Amino acid sequence: ASLAGLNVSLTDDLPLPFGVKKALRFENQAQFNAQKYLNGLARSLREKGCQIFENSLVNHVEEKDDYFWVRTASATVKAKSLVMATHIPVFFNVLQAVVAPYRSYVMAAKLRSGNYPEGLFWDTAKPYHYIRTYQGDEVKYLVVGGEDHKTGHGENSEENFQRLEKYIRERFDVEEISYRWSGQYYEPADGLPYVGRSPFSKKAYVATGFSGDGLVYGTIAGLIIADLITGKENKWLEAYDSTRFTPAVSVYDFIKENSDVVKHYLGDRIRADAQEFSDVKDGEGKIVTLGGQKIAAARDENGELHACSPACTHMGCFVKWNNSEKTWDCPCHGSRFNNNGEVIYGPAVTSLKKIEVEYDAEKKKEKIKKRK
Ligand code: FES
Repeated sequence: ASLAGLNVSLTDDLPLPFGVKKALRFENQAQFNAQKYLNGLARSLREKGCQIFENSLVNHVEEKDDYFWVRTASATVKAKSLVMATHIPVFFNVLQAVVAPYRSYVMAAKLRSGNYPEGLFWDTAKPYHYIRTYQGDEVKYLVVGGEDHKTGHGENSEENFQRLEKYIRERFDVEEISYRWSGQYYEPADGLPYVGRSPFSKKAYVATGFSGDGLVYGTIAGLIIADLITGKENKWLEAYDSTRFTPAVSVYDFIKENSDVVKHYLGDRIRADAQEFSDVKDGEGKIVTLGGQKIAAARDENGELHACSPACTHMGCFVKWNNSEKTWDCPCHGSRFNNNGEVIYGPAVTSLKKIEVEYDAEKKKEKIKKRK
């Protein structure tokens, strides 16, 4: 870090209510409010004549006659350049093989003492934890996160929340845990995000693999891609170049993450959580095997059963139930679907295939509806 020009020192004196053996201390860091930052970006874009459309899922992109034709359910946009700032590029993209999806857990707590630590703190445990203080206009929260795992690999995400809560309560005088949530990020194979031209396209651009540092890397990606589109040099492009090939650094992670993909593609096809729809309780989701067919079955809190094919519409891996978010998550590249199978997160852009279910009054149980 010193060689890279950072002001860094070793210390064992941190403003935390528990001891540490040693810590690396980076001076002159800043925290800022992510929501206010985004609001400011959106405001300045609007002032420059840009339009922002939310809730507009892109379901098709075609590159033809020097233009992109980008289709949503209700409109087609024609554009000279296309930037896929979608966390991971949607549809199929070779970069999906060099980033791996992870889920991370977070809690916001109020402290009895009012002693909220100043700074950002990361430990080096596996899985790791981070600690910071959120300062709102009138409120303060201790924010602690971590307990990460690969998407679709945790068996019970409620346990990740329980472990995180234990970690916090053992170290701080918690008055209450006020909020909890989980998020998703993508780990790059060689430690740096991939920013720049989308492989095999001259005018499509991507930015992916930000680890947990999207505010910093998102800003860097914006600067690099804007320069690429307008034909300017950018001194950071070489380090982040999306078309780089770094076998010496990334080959181990590349093989590990992609053998995971193969393992899930094959292994999850023989896995079954239940043999009957009645084994799926309210609020639960399970892979049910009925008559040799695998079904992703989820029952909402009102007892209504939703059944879909478990094959992810991106590349066919079988989805897994996330019991805290109540979603179907794909272990291969991180696509996510709600309990009804509707896509809520790419790279997939289409929903899981619905399977119709009916009630068999004679046998007093739900069954797959036969096609007439
Ligand atoms: Fe790629 Fe599901 S996200 S197969």
